[in-house]
Amino acid sequence: MIRVAINGILGRMGQELASAISRDEDLILVGGIDTLETFHEDRIAVTTNPDEILGDADVVVDFSSPQGTATIARSCRQHHRPLITGTTGLSRDQQKLVEQLAENVPVVQSFNFSLGINLLIDILQKTARVLKDGFDVEIIDVHHRGKKDAPSGTALTLARVLAQTMGLNESQAIQVGRKGKNLKRGHEIVIHSLRGGAIIGEHQVHFLCGHETINITHKALSRSVFVDGVLRAIYWIPGQKPGYYTMQDVLELKA
Ligand SMILES: NC(=O)c1ccc[n+]([C@@H]2O[C@H](COP(=O)([O-])OP(=O)(O)OC[C@H]3O[C@@H](n4cnc5c(N)ncnc54)[C@H](OP(=O)(O)O)[C@@H]3O)[C@@H](O)[C@H]2O)c1
Repeated sequence: MIRVAINGILGRMGQELASAISRDEDLILVGGIDTLETFHEDRIAVTTNPDEILGDADVVVDFSSPQGTATIARSCRQHHRPLITGTTGLSRDQQKLVEQLAENVPVVQSFNFSLGINLLIDILQKTARVLKDGFDVEIIDVHHRGKKDAPSGTALTLARVLAQTMGLNESQAIQVGRKGKNLKRGHEIVIHSLRGGAIIGEHQVHFLCGHETINITHKALSRSVFVDGVLRAIYWIPGQKPGYYTMQDVLELKA
């Protein structure tokens, strides 16, 4: 049995994950952390203080807010608990706390837990290696109106993977949106974000040249694609050495 605590348990992802854990005979949901004290489905205590439940958990899963991730990373360090985190929009300092935690315990961080996106990363590396000369690359991310950060963490991950594969300097090449007059297309990788409705998550990567285009799209049709990935990470993380891991490690997709 693996005992799991969820940070952000009352949110969209937290609730789906809590239901999936409750249905899984080999997992026990020991409690949740969120911004108010309550009960999840009358049974599971929800607290605002991680210290109250971390001692009971083998693994902590975080889908909260950047501030929530910072707080849980500090508590996991104090209680020596492994962390699986999917929260996006972290500042440099918040990201540093996650990476510092990984010096002491195993940490899985992924800005998209779906199998499809992690396979897409593999496909993009192969495609970009071949198309790196002569093709322009643009990324579009489309999400529901409640998403707080833009561009999405996934779009940034895809852009970084493309920049690395194409031998570009990440910070110079990755650009968010395009605006201006007399623009000149260089080697930039531009991310465009659309927000509206109830779209769970769509990412399009466009490779464009004068004679042909290749468009690769991934659509998440339900949050269960992320939940399935998180469950795989929950089963994978116990027994791992301290370190920073991604879903590429969990799914054994790393080259
Ligand atoms: N990596 C992936 O595969 C993946 C997939 C989906 C979503 N995400 C990311 O996961 C995060 C959550 O997404 P969501 O759609 O579930 O958002 P959501 O519905 O807004 O849920 C977030 C929950 O966390 C709570 N929270 C906020 N600050 C907190 C804190 N300091 N401590 C504890 N709980 C806190 C929120 O409470 P309040 O409502 O009171 O603020 C809310 O209940 C986002 O960053 C999103 O981009 C990642």
